[in-house]
Amino acid sequence: MSFSALRNPLRAAARRAAQPKFQLRSNFNRKFSTPPPAAEAKSNTALWVGLGAAAVGGAGYYIYTSNDASNAVKSGVQVAKVKANFVPTKEDYIKVYNRVAEIIDDAGDYDDGSYGPVLVRLAWHSSGTYDKESKTGGSNYATMRFDPEAKHGANAGLNVARDLMEKVKQEFPWISYGDLWTLAGVAAIQEMAGPKIPWRPGRIDGFEAQATPDGRLPDATQGADHLRNIFYRMGFNDQEIVALSGAHALGRCHRDRSGFEGPWTFAPTTVTNDYFRLLFDEKWVWKRWDGPKQLEDKKTRSLMMLPTDYVLVQDKSFKKYAKVYADSQEEWFKDFSKAVSTLFELGVPTEQFVTPEPWIMPTVDEQQEEKKN
Ligand code: HEM
Repeated sequence: MSFSALRNPLRAAARRAAQPKFQLRSNFNRKFSTPPPAAEAKSNTALWVGLGAAAVGGAGYYIYTSNDASNAVKSGVQVAKVKANFVPTKEDYIKVYNRVAEIIDDAGDYDDGSYGPVLVRLAWHSSGTYDKESKTGGSNYATMRFDPEAKHGANAGLNVARDLMEKVKQEFPWISYGDLWTLAGVAAIQEMAGPKIPWRPGRIDGFEAQATPDGRLPDATQGADHLRNIFYRMGFNDQEIVALSGAHALGRCHRDRSGFEGPWTFAPTTVTNDYFRLLFDEKWVWKRWDGPKQLEDKKTRSLMMLPTDYVLVQDKSFKKYAKVYADSQEEWFKDFSKAVSTLFELGVPTEQFVTPEPWIMPTVDEQQEEKKN
């Protein structure tokens, strides 16, 4: 079945019921062996001059004050690259969304036939570096473009997603990387039959100095305390930690990226609450292998859970929410949508956004329906 069929939620549901086949990869090309650099990036909360090209409804340009002259100059160059007087509208962002949707689909035999999951991971890793105390990190500056952050162990393999998005950036040079990556995450979730993720543009491209130190993203080998430390730092609570973790309905682990291996669900290119259902319904046992500690389902031994996934049914507070989401996909969709929308806006000063209320981007299917009417 072609992935484009997934654009129709009914067909997506049929696909879920059919529990599509997926292949476990046993041949890995070791492309990445990236010991994360220890370099501590300086915290940089300096505001700098940036004339954001993205503005809607006559909002015009953004002007930031700066105490960093060098950044101001660089940002001037950045702006000069953008076509003069071009003020993108929601329609322009929908064009970018549609281009990303095409790319998601055009995955050939990559993984399970979709680039959607790896794009979701890019959007999350570019946002999840946020630290609410120092107000550093987050999706604003797209600092994963720079080597210190690109080479962090947690980001191994995300060059695949960044390279795909570079093609889109060439076609739509006016969009910032932060907007592009988060919009791609939104497109991926929505086009894989997930809930609508409210989104708005306004992120600006930053510089290497704004890259975040290593260690801000979660370590899958750890337990509940670690999850709380990492996600509380971003400003999330227990319920949101659980809701966000449901993204592991999508995609798979790759031994040559994280060291872990395998998918969490039988339908890794469709957004469902299967991740939660499987956590409760299957018997999970430690996998006997030479890789890092992970669990496998006793029945088929083809699915996996990370230690940080399993913690959601072991920790009392997490378990309460996981059960709600296992019992109701609707509840999960509602909470997941809200938490992801918040996640993708972490680190972006409110005044940078071009609209006070986030937009709901129409899916490709909805746009086609709209054209017919
Ligand atoms: C709760 C803490 C989390 C940990 C410890 C964690 C860890 C991981 C690991 C180890 C992988 C495998 C990477 C690879 O080998 O390619 C992965 C994949 C993935 N993660 Fe997470 N993750 C977490 C939270 C999240 C969140 C909050 C999201 C999104 C909202 C997310 C979305 C994904 C997706 C979509 C993939 C699949 C990527 C692909 O198929 O290429 N994860 N995660």
